[in-house]
Amino acid sequence: MRIKYKSRDEILKLRAAGLAVSEILDDVCAAAVPGATTADLDRVAADGIGRLKVKSAFLGYQGYPAVLCTSVNEVIVHGIPREDEVLAEGDIIGIDFGSYLDGYCGDSARTIVVGGKTTPEKQKLVDTTRESLEKAIEMCYPGNRLGDIGAAVQNWAEAQGYSVVKDFVGHGVGRQMHEDPPVPNYGRSGHGKRIKSGLVIAIEPMVNAGAQHVEVLDDEWTALTKDRSMSAHFEHTIAITDNGPWVLTQAAPSPGSP
Ligand code: MF3
Ligand code: CO
Repeated sequence: MRIKYKSRDEILKLRAAGLAVSEILDDVCAAAVPGATTADLDRVAADGIGRLKVKSAFLGYQGYPAVLCTSVNEVIVHGIPREDEVLAEGDIIGIDFGSYLDGYCGDSARTIVVGGKTTPEKQKLVDTTRESLEKAIEMCYPGNRLGDIGAAVQNWAEAQGYSVVKDFVGHGVGRQMHEDPPVPNYGRSGHGKRIKSGLVIAIEPMVNAGAQHVEVLDDEWTALTKDRSMSAHFEHTIAITDNGPWVLTQAAPSPGSP
């Protein structure tokens, strides 16, 4: 498959889709309190889907059974919401949501600490993962390369003693949730494909407190750390413009916003 570069018009549609994703994630994060189940969070997302008249990108995708991925503590990504999974104070939960509006996709994830109580260890893992995404977004200028993005994530995370998951990568985004090119969270700066205006990608660092190795449960979705260390995940859908990154799944302005 080849990369589909987007017109201005298409990027505006991807922006509308991204804003819907951001709004729904706001609601889900607000509902992630001690005592809530991950199935409750899935219902909050489903309510948002109805209210904003978007279509889930996850439900039915290769048989995925929910509209949200909820990845608690040692789960890296693709945790399936469950009625019997009750959130406790201090859990860290990755919340990943994607949907289509007017035929265009938005895809984004955040990790939060449940309740008021955190520990320096958990907070540092979550902060470092978010910062690794911010560093990667700062690389999203025409003329830079995909290796600059991967290196930004990897260097930031590894400098704090963490490891970056290599088994899953980011991706192009458009009329499909997953388009070319793959966007690894590792690499060498100055290497890889050159990025140019009109490219739209999801960058999604997954950072483990321990080793990088992944285990997938028998449900064939839940991906967790082999060593059962904590893991965090952030994701944004970003358009590369002549002025730099436009973070489509973030309501606040970015260098490439109009
Ligand atoms: N945001 C994730 C991704 O980019 C989640 C998709 S998993 C799904 O791959 F199966 F639920 F769609
Ligand atoms: Co994604």
